[in-house]
Amino acid sequence: MKSNEIREKYLNFFQKRGHSVIPSASLVPENDPTTLFTGSGMQPLIPYLLGQKHPMGSRLANSQKCFRADDIEEVGDNRHTTFFEMLGNWSLGDYFKQEQLAWFFEFLTQELGLSPEKLYVTVFSGDENSGIPKDEESIAIWKRLFAEKGIEAKDVELGTQEAGYEKGMQGGRIFAYDVKKNWWSRAGVPEAMPVGEPGGPDSEVFFDFGTPHDVKFGGTCHPNCDCGRFLEIGNSVFMEYKKKEDGSFEKLVQRNVDFGGGLERITAAVLGNPDVFAIDLFPHIIQEVEKLSEHSYREPASQKSFRVIADHLRAAIFIIGDGIIPSNTERGYFARRLIRRAVRHLNLLGATRRGLTSLVGAVAKTYEESYPNLLQNKENIAAVIRSEEERFKQTLEEGLKKVSKVFKAKTPIAREKFVAFMNREDKNDLLRRAYRDKRGGKKYDIKEAELTAEEIEKATLSGKEAFDMFQSYGLPVDMVLELATESSLLVDLEAYRDEFAKHQKVSRTAAAGRFKGGLADTSYETTKLHTANHLLLAALRKVLGDHVHQRGSNITAERIRLDFSHPQKVTPEELQQVEDLVSQKIQEGLNMVKREMPKEEAQKLGAEMEFGIKYGDVVSVYCAEDDKGNAFSNEFCGGPHVKNTSELGKFKIVKEEAVSAGVRRVRAVLE
Ligand code: SER
Repeated sequence: MKSNEIREKYLNFFQKRGHSVIPSASLVPENDPTTLFTGSGMQPLIPYLLGQKHPMGSRLANSQKCFRADDIEEVGDNRHTTFFEMLGNWSLGDYFKQEQLAWFFEFLTQELGLSPEKLYVTVFSGDENSGIPKDEESIAIWKRLFAEKGIEAKDVELGTQEAGYEKGMQGGRIFAYDVKKNWWSRAGVPEAMPVGEPGGPDSEVFFDFGTPHDVKFGGTCHPNCDCGRFLEIGNSVFMEYKKKEDGSFEKLVQRNVDFGGGLERITAAVLGNPDVFAIDLFPHIIQEVEKLSEHSYREPASQKSFRVIADHLRAAIFIIGDGIIPSNTERGYFARRLIRRAVRHLNLLGATRRGLTSLVGAVAKTYEESYPNLLQNKENIAAVIRSEEERFKQTLEEGLKKVSKVFKAKTPIAREKFVAFMNREDKNDLLRRAYRDKRGGKKYDIKEAELTAEEIEKATLSGKEAFDMFQSYGLPVDMVLELATESSLLVDLEAYRDEFAKHQKVSRTAAAGRFKGGLADTSYETTKLHTANHLLLAALRKVLGDHVHQRGSNITAERIRLDFSHPQKVTPEELQQVEDLVSQKIQEGLNMVKREMPKEEAQKLGAEMEFGIKYGDVVSVYCAEDDKGNAFSNEFCGGPHVKNTSELGKFKIVKEEAVSAGVRRVRAVLE
């Protein structure tokens, strides 16, 4: 079965059960300053989970594009990807545990034909600190559902993460885990949740591939063990709590269900192959890399590189497709890291002949049906990737030389000890604690992992060393970490982040005041230029492509200054086309019509939003349209505008220049 078919079956299944299918939101969250990327289907729905009425009703479903930056370092095994599609269904104060668990079980066993024998489930064991009880109701439901399939499902307690969940399978089918595993909120465990954040106990379903347990990952196996036997394929969150000011929890105004299941993982389960990269979404790209490299995906030693390339390139393409350009800050930095890491792995495979850019087509083609915009936008996406790839290649060789020099001055940890440490689930916590203690002048041995302070000291790259590799040679920290890990060395990531933040603060201060956005005043001249600004943006998008979005604008009575995303210089011919198109629209005498509508509707209309602006649920959109209502431009905007574009007179572009990587600026006037 192919992923397209599974996606379709899922959406049909829930549509038949009264759900409205909503479109995937952008990977760039619109109204949510708390996260850089959309990482789950529920994220764009937060206001509705908190009680606001959704225009499409109380039962929703979709397939959401997701990017989880936290998983970047995990990519290389057979299951982790940074980009994935999340199949989701939601009850906004409508159905609850009974329906949700029964439906998902039915979907897996009836629609997809998975054997119930291979499914194992988990539930919440309760939390004394927050006073939230064990989820006995879900246990009872699961027992009944398995019994209907002739399976007696025993429930067992797995204890706490601190105790390593060492009790093992105990012949169970339903496993109760603590807050670390079976509580879901965007911030994680109840303690970490900010005030007002919704969350709740969850119940996950795991598929058993039946592979033998690998003791590297702990003494005994259990559904959440990382050895590869079990794969999580769906998570039903029973979102009924909200964090209060005093740290305790209250019930939300409505009880919600928030379900999410990775499309790629479900497909792998249906195929019975634990390798997520073996599903239909990856062969195109893997085969292309095989052709370039003379290595085969089947060689165990090459698999990590193939997977990193396939995952990172796919993620970069989707992110760029949603308007992000590689840079050193925020979202752009992730695009940069993905591309650079993929380039390095192509080099490791000896596939230097044609470069990463040549693989863009293979990914876009894979998504021809489900995300046609990628294929339409292929040339622009490829241009962004090409420019980043070329920039990186200029410094890569020198950077790697510098890395070996720094590494030579360190003493690696004995390989076996190092590998055992890296397999610990708590390795990052342990290291963080050690480095903090070191900074605080305390003892910093990691007894749990038998690492002495001296071993850590001699094997660690400081934050400054890692940051220098980034600043001088463009090596992103994940790459430095990966190189260090290959050499049994460590990196003080927290110190690196401090260095990075320090640097960003300096650049932000430098940038502040450089660009003051908006209209200088509301005079007639400025208002005319404001209308011209809308026509200009629409014309740039028509001539250069849909990747063009406004990144800022400053309008005075004399001129427009518009910043927009575009990877390269706009040619004089293109500028001329843009100018001609705006002039034509002025001549056509389009009406500037203001409409108020729900934000969703405005988005469906394709209205341009300004980057970084928060919009409410009802928005005002200005449409430049002819008498029949055919719009040339739709923009989220509060005005003011002229009534008709014929008022504008003669339009002229006076300058085009670079502002920063991937952002261009045009100045234009009305004569
Ligand atoms: N929000 C939950 C998750 O991301 C379920 O959708 O796992």
